[in-house]
Amino acid sequence: MKYLFDTANIELIEKYANKLPIAGITTNPSIIKKEGKIDFFAHFAKIREIIGREKSLHVQVTTNTEEEIICEAYAICDRIDKDVYIKIPVTVEGLAAIKELKKDNFHITATAIYTKMQGFLAMEAGADFIAPYYNRMQNLDINSDETIMAFADAISRYNYSTQILAASFKNMGQVNRAIECGAQTVTLGPEIMLDAFKMPSIAKAVNDFHADWVKTIGDISIDKL
Ligand code: G3P
Repeated sequence: MKYLFDTANIELIEKYANKLPIAGITTNPSIIKKEGKIDFFAHFAKIREIIGREKSLHVQVTTNTEEEIICEAYAICDRIDKDVYIKIPVTVEGLAAIKELKKDNFHITATAIYTKMQGFLAMEAGADFIAPYYNRMQNLDINSDETIMAFADAISRYNYSTQILAASFKNMGQVNRAIECGAQTVTLGPEIMLDAFKMPSIAKAVNDFHADWVKTIGDISIDKL
């Protein structure tokens, strides 16, 4: 299992990406919009500096034709680094670009996936990750669980190296379902993950343990005994 943060917010990435077991960062133009008019390459260089090279960084193209997508992919890899995963929406033009870029060994995350056929074609085009949009599919009455299961089944049946990177989550229940259905990787907003620790019972358990220790041994930590 791998968890990524779906954010371009430097403050949140700095605060949590190395504390929590996070495997990378995903973004798209709508996520970038939340940060205002950023200095694009400097912003991603900063994110890379924070997360290092072991974590994956997924940056989405902003154009729609095969030629333009390919130009953007080269610019992203030249000006950030060549380990970046290029996020490409699965359209006819997007699939053409994926096929071309894979010939040059680009890392590709095929995104904006709402249908099984988009996912199947992205696997066949050679995408490293496919990103089904869990919540957006549910909004359209498309069965996200069944779609992810179909992707997992196709990957194992036909031996694709593609992994499912499920995205577009609004709560932890959806994240857990995507994992149970076979998504090896999920990307979610840090606020959704942090919600999982907000249960009062967790804070009470931690406080009770500390109070019992202080009552029994004193207000001293083990390393100071
Ligand atoms: O990574 C794709 C994802 O960000 C889309 O999520 O919340 O806009 O449906 P959302």
